[in-house]
Amino acid sequence: MILDELRSKALVCTACSLSERRTNVVFGEGDPRSPLVLVGEGPGDNEDKTGRPFVGRAGQLLDKALVEAGLSREMVYICNTVKCRAADWSTGKPQNRPPTDEETLACRQWLIPQLGLIAPKVILCVGAPSAKNLIKKNFLITKERGLYFPCEYAKTAMAALHPSYILRQQRPDSDGGFGLLVQDIERAWQAAQKLAEKDAQH
Ligand code: URA
Repeated sequence: MILDELRSKALVCTACSLSERRTNVVFGEGDPRSPLVLVGEGPGDNEDKTGRPFVGRAGQLLDKALVEAGLSREMVYICNTVKCRAADWSTGKPQNRPPTDEETLACRQWLIPQLGLIAPKVILCVGAPSAKNLIKKNFLITKERGLYFPCEYAKTAMAALHPSYILRQQRPDSDGGFGLLVQDIERAWQAAQKLAEKDAQH
């Protein structure tokens, strides 16, 4: 199967109840031949409206971090743990929430083959839900971000702070962890490049 076929199937998915309220399935975008894939948490309002990952406030901060790390969105592939927006609708005004274990599990039918087709050298999990899904269940984001872990779906995986978390932590005297995000992207990219070069020699 090719990535476009997988995308077409994902676009009509009804495997979990997130499909009932979504506007768009946010499958992923970027360079599918990149050695580095970023996997976020899930679409928010802007992503649901546009069908594109990381295009809201958090996405703008991620773009800024990529640029500071010497990269651009086009050089990596970006997708999410779940492809449909997870929100609490009980108050009338939808509030984004982390995906449940059931939603995450249901969406692995898209994420795992997606990673299999791209076959990245390095996966950078952006935020805790992604690291818990792809690295280990009990991942501790503030303690274990920036470290390399074995991963079934790439040569290695690392996690970084989520830009939404960084936005909540930012103060006049603190970057909220933005520098760490830039550093983790830089290191993940360097590792991905090295692994790609090594493979090209064989
Ligand atoms: N946050 C995410 O984790 N992913 C997106 O696509 C947007 C915001």
